Amino acid sequence: MSLEKTIYIGPFVHCESLNELDVCPNGMFGVDEDGKIAFISRDMKGRPLPAHQGWENAKVVRIQDYGFFFPGFIDTHIHASQYPNAGVFGKSTLLDWLNTYTFPLESSFTDLDKAARIYNRVVARTLSQGTTTACYYATVHVAATNLLADICQSRGQRAFVGRVCMDRLSPDYYQDESVESAIRDSQACIDHVKKIDPYFDLVSPIITPRFAPSCSDEALAALGKLHHTTGVPCQTHISENKAEIQLVRELFPKSQSYTHVYDRAGLLTPKMILAHAVHLTKEERTLIKNRQAKISHCPASNTALTSGTAKVRTMLDEGLTVGLGTDVSGGYTSSMLAETREAIFVSRHVAMTDGDETKLSVAEALYLATRGGAKVVGLEDRIGGFEVGMDWDAQMISFGDGVGDKLGLDQSAGLVEIFGGESWEDKVAKWVYTGDDRNTKAVWVKGRLVHSQGNFKP
Ligand code: GUN
Ligand code: ZN
Repeated sequence: MSLEKTIYIGPFVHCESLNELDVCPNGMFGVDEDGKIAFISRDMKGRPLPAHQGWENAKVVRIQDYGFFFPGFIDTHIHASQYPNAGVFGKSTLLDWLNTYTFPLESSFTDLDKAARIYNRVVARTLSQGTTTACYYATVHVAATNLLADICQSRGQRAFVGRVCMDRLSPDYYQDESVESAIRDSQACIDHVKKIDPYFDLVSPIITPRFAPSCSDEALAALGKLHHTTGVPCQTHISENKAEIQLVRELFPKSQSYTHVYDRAGLLTPKMILAHAVHLTKEERTLIKNRQAKISHCPASNTALTSGTAKVRTMLDEGLTVGLGTDVSGGYTSSMLAETREAIFVSRHVAMTDGDETKLSVAEALYLATRGGAKVVGLEDRIGGFEVGMDWDAQMISFGDGVGDKLGLDQSAGLVEIFGGESWEDKVAKWVYTGDDRNTKAVWVKGRLVHSQGNFKP
């Protein structure tokens, strides 16, 4: 689809590298018909629009209020099918939570009307919260999984859509019939995405063994083979909960560790996203690093299900690639802004025992939610920051209506209280700690407007 060439004018903020927030108070982007950033100017103050050749008639979008452009969030782990249960987890821990809350809900996705209702809502909601890319787990059902891919494609959300594989230790009413049927159904979902998006430009399939306990050796090996023959990426859970790890030890006596289970199946590759990684040993982290597999850190879920506190600083120091995941509905929120906050606070809990240097800064947590996530999904050349040649996956963040500013008063910022005199770093920190989706005025994916708030027309 060809878009209208657009020039975006206003402050912008993005993460240059871990802990390095790049703030530009007077920025300008030219976004071309393919939704790519064609040029960036860092000093628009008081200057007329530059007469870039071919851009004279471009549409102009300005930030009207106090605010800034920020890269779209990348949720590296979210269960779209569990969205109705977000915020509902009682006192459970992982294994009983799966049986009590999760499997009964997921099994109901044989009902396509229900699937359509829920999937439309989760995609709309996450877009409104600034999530431009999501790694989704669907359910075992082919038709409903394909529907989720269709919805992402038509609403314009960049997505990885996974049909969940689970051929054992699951309820009779909700599991794959056999290894063969699991592979056949996974292939059917890959073929469907190929039909709607042949180059996986916006939507991509992702091979999804649920986790080692619900997959036989044979199923894991067959999924590993499918991963290698198709080149389609993979996602799964790892080392989330101590009872789960003990179960893996009993189920896979030949494997030295949880990580080895996936490695032996050929699943530990640069295109594998491992969610949680709370209790990994040093040897496991080294193996993951050597295989260049990626980590999705899910702090809200790890706290909600009392799984544990993942040591993100250690993983980063050891050179692992880490992004953030909401893990709805182990996680209570579909907001990546809230997840960013959770990542900071969980790191502060770790710091209480492991030392202050383990704390994540606001900039570091935002890096994990954007550039880090882009690396986790293998799209670091296209998304996660603002560079010429990258896609315009962006959100317009606003602090208020600008009325106070016009009257010469301190800025009346509403939800995020700006009093004037804060540095840009302080304003961004206020957004992270006190903001929510009411600050997300507009969202674009590949240059296409995919969400705008109320009557706001950028
Ligand atoms: N492990 C296996 N399945 C799941 C799931 O649905 N959510 C979480 N958090 N962990 C899992
Ligand atoms: Zn999960």
